[in-house]
Amino acid sequence: MTLSTTQTQVIQDTFSRIVPRADEFAESFYATLFQTHPEVRQLFPNEMAPQREKLISTLTFVVRGLGDFSRIQSAVEDLGVRHVSYKASPALYGAVGECLIRTLADFLGAHFTTDARAAWQTAYKALSDTMIGAGQARMAG
Ligand code: HEM
Repeated sequence: MTLSTTQTQVIQDTFSRIVPRADEFAESFYATLFQTHPEVRQLFPNEMAPQREKLISTLTFVVRGLGDFSRIQSAVEDLGVRHVSYKASPALYGAVGECLIRTLADFLGAHFTTDARAAWQTAYKALSDTMIGAGQARMAG
């Protein structure tokens, strides 16, 4: 993961603005995802409240861990391996990333600066590359 200290800081700062509205954030994220990619809806359980909580707690864990990615790497890899059975393809990782960025932009308004956007994009790329790589390694091995 090639995030600078400044980028880690901007992600943690912007995320702290999301935390008080975390459930609303997750709801908006999934609404955007299911609107733009309706085929994804059926992969998820009907009852989305527990799913929203899991998403937020994972984001919290990752955002806290960004300063030392090596400490969270194996947990992220395990998450990637589980996502093979959830049918998460590389293309869908791209879609999820776009929805995440869009929802961040929506909730953060002017706080979502060009630098903040670039930092989140870099972090999401690293996160999803690690998950996809671990899933593919598991399938190959
Ligand atoms: C970096 C991106 C992603 C993160 C951080 C993430 C996070 C999570 C977490 C924490 C869970 C809870 C279950 C578990 O821990 O195994 C979960 C479940 C799930 N994820 Fe993801 N996810 C990501 C990308 C995706 C993508 C691209 C898809 C596309 C299909 C997807 C589909 C699902 C589904 C269907 C479930 C629910 C499975 C079930 O309960 O039956 N996720 N995700």
